[in-house]
Amino acid sequence: MSQSAPKRPNILVRASYALLRLGVGLAVFAYDYAFRIWFMSLIQFRLPWKRALSSPKVGRAAALEALLNQDPAYGKHRLFEVDGNTYHCVESGSSSGKLILLLHGFPQCWYSWRHQLKEFGNTSDYHVVAVDLKGYGGSFKPTASDEYTPYRFAEDIEKIVRALGHDTCILVGHDWGGIIAWYCAALRPAFIEKLAIINAPHPAVMGRNIALRNPNVSMWESLKQLYISRYIAVIQLPWPFHTIYMTWRNYEWVRVAASDVGQAAPEDVDTYVSSFALPGVASCSSAYYRSLLKPGASIDAPIHVPTVVIWGNQDIALREEVCLTGLEDIVEDLQICIIDGATHFCPESSHQRVNHLLREFIQKGNDIETSET
Ligand SMILES: *[C@@H]1O[C@H](CO)[C@@H](O)[C@H](O)[C@H]1NC(C)=O
Ligand SMILES: *[C@@H]1O[C@H](CO)[C@@H](O)[C@H](O)[C@H]1NC(C)=O
Repeated sequence: MSQSAPKRPNILVRASYALLRLGVGLAVFAYDYAFRIWFMSLIQFRLPWKRALSSPKVGRAAALEALLNQDPAYGKHRLFEVDGNTYHCVESGSSSGKLILLLHGFPQCWYSWRHQLKEFGNTSDYHVVAVDLKGYGGSFKPTASDEYTPYRFAEDIEKIVRALGHDTCILVGHDWGGIIAWYCAALRPAFIEKLAIINAPHPAVMGRNIALRNPNVSMWESLKQLYISRYIAVIQLPWPFHTIYMTWRNYEWVRVAASDVGQAAPEDVDTYVSSFALPGVASCSSAYYRSLLKPGASIDAPIHVPTVVIWGNQDIALREEVCLTGLEDIVEDLQICIIDGATHFCPESSHQRVNHLLREFIQKGNDIETSET
């Protein structure tokens, strides 16, 4: 089922594409950041640079200790190697159980799965592993862009499963972790028994819907999604723009995202800011978004593994209609579960509901009936 890498388009096409990305990125950067924030800051009589410098630094050292190697509250910390590169993970349950591999999103780390580590790790039925994706937390932080292609992601995850001592797994991904899980299911399905996606778009389906190539998606929805996603244009800008953007005003971006977690305690916000502030994370997490707009990122191979999509319908970053419409065309065995009132970060903010749905899906036999939204 694996496909070969796509041919590279010619130099002229690549050059015009790069110029277009630069132009759009600069325009959005100017609109959103250089102008709007500066102007708002003037209104508040607070200059942005003054505020950035005076923001209190969180208790980063302590938070990092807990995050990377100390706190056993959610499981055992472990470092392992794949092709000479180090990954960090937290694991619970028993290594003889079935592997549940949890892939976090942006701008997070393994910690976003703490409730699932507890929920599924209290018996020996499962080996629950929340891994820091490459570029995040305690894992290695590569800068080369060919580390961030769909083929590479899919290969990495398969090797991680083997390094953890398993041949197959139940793959669970949220946000960027979900996109990577979609890539795995499309390109390397053999190691996936079941696939659970939480608030993550399938790049090919979302691309088609945004481009209005599906009559069932309204232009209004597509425009709204484009507007919400405009930050992706800024991230396409070369260094140092994307790093400035990611770390702007003492990681305001991460703070806002972490606060959306709902019941996020101040310590949790500190935890996410600390992990995002690790050297290299801002630029590696940009590389994920930069890969999304490169030719060949939109993999639309049919997916045959049993799949559940769990969707908090109060997601402020992803429009349900744009992300889910037409998904059934490429996912053969699909069940969609909408969680009413849940946010983008529902593995944390609505963990009881998410855990319940995951458990039902994991325990169900292989003959899953398809249901609709
Ligand atoms: C494990 O946790 C789940 C959910 O909290 C619970 O239903 C189950 O009974 C627990 N199992 C054990 C052995 O504690
Ligand atoms: C649009 O939705 C209708 C009704 O759900 C469905 O029959 C049709 O195939 C969809 N069209 C496309 C292009 O997906």
